[in-house]
Amino acid sequence: MTILHIDSSINGENSASRAISARILDQLTAANPGADVVRRDLVSKPLPHLTLDAFADTEVLDEFLAADTVVIGAPMYNFTLPTQLKAWIDRIVLAGKTFRYTKSGPEGLAAGKRVIIALARGGYYSHGSPAAALEHLETYLRGVFNFIGIEPEFVAADGLAISPEQRSESIKVALGETVRLAA
Ligand SMILES: Cc1cc2nc3c(=O)[nH]c(=O)nc-3n(C[C@H](O)[C@H](O)[C@H](O)COP(=O)(O)O)c2cc1C
Repeated sequence: MTILHIDSSINGENSASRAISARILDQLTAANPGADVVRRDLVSKPLPHLTLDAFADTEVLDEFLAADTVVIGAPMYNFTLPTQLKAWIDRIVLAGKTFRYTKSGPEGLAAGKRVIIALARGGYYSHGSPAAALEHLETYLRGVFNFIGIEPEFVAADGLAISPEQRSESIKVALGETVRLAA
């Protein structure tokens, strides 16, 4: 089993999404002691913006295709994903590799992988809340992974900018939720 562990928060040791994705990794590796873990930190080693030339280099795509499980730390920046993570998505969503167009519409080709995403958001965006229409992180990630044939699982810490107490509580709850992922 190969687990690909990706982080994209700029906040280093203070990052909630990094703490949660690390805990998810702990749970998965405890349940699968022989697992190979491949690490990709998109902040310490950023990928450049996509260019046509970048398609010639399939390292990122091959690494994704080789993984059985992918764990992603994804903070919300300006209502969506960090550009570092978008640059990674730009390299794994590729016609003929992870999806194809058929007469009846697009078809995902990456089915069978498990994708677990640790979300960290400063506010609240649940259905019906005032800011729900600005939620372009979870909705985008669900949409793009669905497009390539994967139903991602999410662990979310929300309201992190509301107060220090709320931040601690939300992170604590999210860390606790990771236990069920290894079941
Ligand atoms: C540059 C930047 C932009 C942010 N934009 C938003 C935002 O649009 N909505 C929101 O709810 N929180 C926003 N936040 C708050 C973060 O989502 C929150 O701090 C979260 O903890 C970030 O994840 P991290 O701790 O893993 O870095 C922003 C934070 C930063 C640093």
